Amino acid sequence: MRNVTLIKDKHRKQFKIPSEKDWGELAEQVAAGLEPGHIVAVSGPLGAGKTTFVQALAKALGIKKNIQSPTFALMRSYPIPKRDELKRLLHVDAYRIEDERDLLPLDLDQELADGQTALVLEWPEKIKNWIDRKPSIQINIA
Ligand SMILES: Nc1ncnc2c1ncn2[C@@H]1O[C@H](COP(=O)(O)OP(=O)(O)O)[C@@H](O)[C@H]1O
Ligand SMILES: [Mg+2]
Repeated sequence: MRNVTLIKDKHRKQFKIPSEKDWGELAEQVAAGLEPGHIVAVSGPLGAGKTTFVQALAKALGIKKNIQSPTFALMRSYPIPKRDELKRLLHVDAYRIEDERDLLPLDLDQELADGQTALVLEWPEKIKNWIDRKPSIQINIA
């Protein structure tokens, strides 16, 4: 069981997710409102279910590929089928980032400005200076 808070445009919504198979409804809600340039920041301790949520979000977006944690790759990119504008989901896991300068090679600002990309981000607190300047949809898992 996980208790999850969804924060979007200063509105908070609570969800109870009984098991790892139950992220679908929350994922559908997030996917439905997801637009190019959006950032979904997923917070919670190690083992909270962040990657499990990202897998559900990808499924809700029609992504068939199996989402794996990009802890070592840092970033992975998935094409989104069947959406008019949103064509690409980037998945970043910032767990291993020690210095926010490590983010620079990813060029996230530019990637997000292409009019067809959204980002889902694990461990947003690791890149606090960057994320604090960005309006984000927050998912807090406890
Ligand atoms: N709602 C849930 N209730 C109970 N266990 C869950 C839930 N969601 C995911 N899990 C389990 O938590 C574990 C860690 O999930 P993971 O998504 O890898 O966490 P994180 O990315 O936050 O480190 C997995 O074994 C997964 O099956
Ligand atoms: Mg993870």
